Amino acid sequence: MIDIQTQFVKNVLEGAGLSLKDSGSAFAPSNIALSKYWGKRDPELNLPINSSLSISLGNLGTKTKIRLADADSVSLNGTPVDLNDGFAIRTLEFLKLFPMVGTHFEVRTENNIPTAAGLASSASGFAALVLALNDLAGWELGGRMLSMLARLGSGSASRSIFEGFVQWHAGNCDDGSDSFAEPFSKPWNEFRIGILELSNARKPVGSRDGMNRTVQTSELYKSWPAQANRDIETIRTAIHTQDFPTLGKAAENNALAMHATMMSAWPPLLYLQPESIEMIHQVQRVRAEGLEVYLTIDAGPNIKLLFLEENESQVAAAFPRLQVIQPFG
Ligand code: PMV
Repeated sequence: MIDIQTQFVKNVLEGAGLSLKDSGSAFAPSNIALSKYWGKRDPELNLPINSSLSISLGNLGTKTKIRLADADSVSLNGTPVDLNDGFAIRTLEFLKLFPMVGTHFEVRTENNIPTAAGLASSASGFAALVLALNDLAGWELGGRMLSMLARLGSGSASRSIFEGFVQWHAGNCDDGSDSFAEPFSKPWNEFRIGILELSNARKPVGSRDGMNRTVQTSELYKSWPAQANRDIETIRTAIHTQDFPTLGKAAENNALAMHATMMSAWPPLLYLQPESIEMIHQVQRVRAEGLEVYLTIDAGPNIKLLFLEENESQVAAAFPRLQVIQPFG
């Protein structure tokens, strides 16, 4: 019996030609959600309960090179990865969905972001893998199709196919054919993101298990889909009118509301570390002093700051370990 993911891939690739090259390579940016994806309505097809909206991180992300081989091999930043390692398992399992391209692959991955530290390396990883496959196989798929394939690897990967501001539409269909991401809006050149890397330890509960536990056990989760829908609309409008305070407030509130649903799950999911809490207080302090800076947090301890170019030197002074990213740089 053909499984549901294999059937989905077949549907997406229907009509695409196959013109194999020696190797395929691609880059995909990491992305940070301003309105988060948390909760699946279909775990196999990675269909989300709510839509989400993100910003891609310019040249921070994953570069992947792939070729057909006699035996599987995976490397990460130049070092061979044991095939029993979770990273290699997820990569090779994903590639099994594409038997029409080949049976064994050599995959070389270069990440310039820490793996599994809440900086969404799985997003850029699966997006780069799909883009590299598209290059290798000569499918010439459009963004929407590439986004749906990347979604099978990791939900947030559907957004990493694109640059800039991106919305992943949750969709309604059970077959997953209307759940894809697309970019919108013109660049906002003054937009800055600051990464406060507080820990690059692997998180104890991955986002897949974390969101399933939240959906199943958190009473607060019931209010989440409506909040996410509201926040997306607020943020989309704020992007169009370049109303930074409105965007920042909605993004920060969205992230903390997601963490409230996590904490109210059972067993509780507490991704924040003492340093994260300290930084949340620090953001509130400097904002009370008049500095226009907001934060967002994913399923990990690291804090991402949102601010505009005009405040960059003041934000950097208040947060000395900050790594500043120009998403439209
Ligand atoms: O794509 P996943 O399964 O790694 O889940 C991502 C979940 C969050 O990062 C917490 C939110 C988001 O929208 O990126």
